[in-house]
Amino acid sequence: MSEQPEILFTSEEIRETVARIAREISDDYRESRPLLVGILQGSFVFMADLIRQLDIPVEIDFVRLSSYGSGMESSGEVEVIHGLEQAITGRNIVIVEDIVDTGITLKRFMDDLRERNPASVRLCALIDKTARREVDVKIDYTGFQVHDEFVVGYGIDCNEQFRNLPDICHVKEIPE
Ligand code: IMP
Ligand code: MG
Repeated sequence: MSEQPEILFTSEEIRETVARIAREISDDYRESRPLLVGILQGSFVFMADLIRQLDIPVEIDFVRLSSYGSGMESSGEVEVIHGLEQAITGRNIVIVEDIVDTGITLKRFMDDLRERNPASVRLCALIDKTARREVDVKIDYTGFQVHDEFVVGYGIDCNEQFRNLPDICHVKEIPE
C-alpha cells in the first residue's frame, strides 16, 4: 500500500482559482474566439472545469506529447504522439497545461506552434513549479505555485495513479 497523499489545495480552493483564471481569459478574449489547446493527459480535468467557467465562445483541441529522457530528467526532445486537429494559422491560442516544471516540454511545443503562424500564443498553467525551471517560459495565467513538491490529483498522476482525487495533493513516496 502506498501512503495517502497530503492535501495541498482543496477542491474548493481549486474551484475559486479556476473561476479566477476563467475571468482573466474571458476578459482578454472578448473580441476573438480563442482555441484552447489542452496537453494530455494531465490537463483534462482542468480543461473541463475551465471551459465551463468561461463566458465567451471558445474552441478546444488536445495534443499528447512525450518528452524523452532518462528517468525523471527531460532531454529536450519532444515527440508529438497526438497532434492538433484544428488549423491554427491566424488563431489566438491558449495552451492549457497541468504543471510547468523544467519548462522544456512547453518551450519546445510553443516554439513549434509559433512556426505555424497563429495570431498569438499564450500559456495557462494550473501549477507553476518555480524552483525547477530550466528554460524561460512565460506563464500568462497561473493557478498555483509550488516549490518542488511532487503533486497529484485533479487529473494529475504519479505512475498513472491518483488522477481521480478531487484535491491537489502532495506525494512524498513515489508508488510502484
Ligand atoms: P517539464 O516542464 O518539461 O519538465 O515537464 C512538465 C510535465 O512533467 C508536466 O506537464 C507533467 O506532465 C509532468 N510533471 C512535472 N511535475 C509533476 C508533478 O509534480 N506531478 C505529476 N506530473 C508532473
Ligand atoms: Mg503534462
